[in-house]
Order: sequence, then structure tokens, then C-alpha cells
Amino acid sequence: MSAKPIGIFDSGVGGTSIWREIHAFLPNENTIYLADSYNAPYGPKGKERITELSVKNVDLLIKKGCKLIVVACNTATTNAIKHLRANYHIPFIGIEPAIKPAALKTQTKAVGILATKGTLASDLFHETTDLYSNGIKIIEQEGEGIVQLIESGKLNSDEMKELLNIYLEPMLKANMDYLVLGCTHYTYLMPMLIEMLQKHIKIIDSGEAVARQTKAVLDKHQLLNNQKSEIRNQFFTNGNPEVMQSLLGKDFKVEYLKF
Ligand code: DGL
Repeated sequence: MSAKPIGIFDSGVGGTSIWREIHAFLPNENTIYLADSYNAPYGPKGKERITELSVKNVDLLIKKGCKLIVVACNTATTNAIKHLRANYHIPFIGIEPAIKPAALKTQTKAVGILATKGTLASDLFHETTDLYSNGIKIIEQEGEGIVQLIESGKLNSDEMKELLNIYLEPMLKANMDYLVLGCTHYTYLMPMLIEMLQKHIKIIDSGEAVARQTKAVLDKHQLLNNQKSEIRNQFFTNGNPEVMQSLLGKDFKVEYLKF
């Protein structure tokens, strides 16, 4: 049993959508969140650079005493998690696009997937897609520019709507009934997407599954916190704290940290 914090990192503010799920599911856990916004987006960077940046984030979280690390970034998971698991003794939880549930439930046999270039190009993504895409049309779309807009505080902008219209078009043409959000930043697009898409189209992400898996792994390693002391949730960014603060709301304090 351990009161040490769960470490969570992302290329930026997107992984706070995962932090939310974890905090809701495991309210008695201390957490430390790192937003590597200075280096965002990870998507266009190659596997080697994404791995280097992930190692940098993991080293800092370990230095801060974390007991488990959640890689709250599809791009970092699909490119670097094998390396991380092979090189550190601490447990890791990763996040991957929810292709499996979408492929199992689709009625129209067409599933749209919006993710970064780095995720769509990764071997891990292809392995999962190959497993579940039999008889199903998977329309892959790179969400170029979306992360940058969110990181610069332009979540609800006309530019964002224009980009989404372009990216959704081929998926709608293919008659998709499931849209998979394969990047943790994209979860913040949910309200806009619900407004833009017809009701029969379901939008799914992997946040809840990650929270469940985090609990299961903590439990397995006997690392759940059963102490009754006050809980701390710390948020660090090496980018603009205001953008992250506006996504998190006033209840949680965002601090600037150079890393
Ligand atoms: N939140 C990251 C993900 O889930 C965004 C990647 C990026 O920075 O391009 O993939």
C-alpha cells in the first residue's frame, strides 16, 4: 500500500482528460501531471525523438517519487512504451486508440479514427488494427494542426471547426457509425463533435479504460493508497500555464516548471 503519487505525462494539456478519469475513479490517489507543452506536438516527431522525450518525462516523475506512470498520450504509448517497460522497473499504463470496441460494435462496418501522424504510423497501432479490422472499413485520418490549436488556447475556434469539417468528410462519406478519438487532446473536442455529427454516430475514447486499468495494476502490485491523509494533485507544465488552467478550472493549480 502506498501514498506515493501516480505520475501522468502527455506532450501537453490533452492528457488532463485522462487525469480526470483517473481522479474520478481513484479519488484517494495523489497525482503528479507533467505537460511537455514546450515540445508539443509529438505527433510529427519520429519514434526516436518521441522515445527520448518520454524518457525525460519518466525520469522526472520517478525523481518526484511516483509509484506508477500513466503515459497519457497515444503517440508516446504507441512509439515508446515498449522501450519504457524494458528499461524501468516501475509499472506503466499506456493508452491506445479504442479500435477494438468500435470494431466490435459497428453496424455500418465503417469506423473513423482520428489520431496523430505518429500514432497512425506506429507498429503498435497497426498490430491492433490488423487484429480487429476484418470485414470492417477503418478510415484513418491524421488530425494535423488540432494539437497546436488546443495548445495555443484555440479549442473552440472557427479554425478548429474548419479543420474538423475537412477531417470528418471522408469518414462521413464512408458511412461511419463510430468515431474513435485516438489522441488525448481530442477528448476536449467532444462537445464540438457532438454538435457537428448526427446522433447515430458514437464518439469514443480510451479514458475510462485507462482509469480501470490503472486501478487494476495498482491493486495487483499492492500499491493502492489506503491512507486517509489529504490528497495532493500537482500539475506542471513547461508551456503556458494559462491554457492548462483554463482546461482544468480553478480548483487545481497549474505551475510552470522547466523540464
Ligand atoms: N495527446 C497526444 C496523444 O494522445 C498528442 C500528441 C501530440 O503531441 O501530437 O497522442
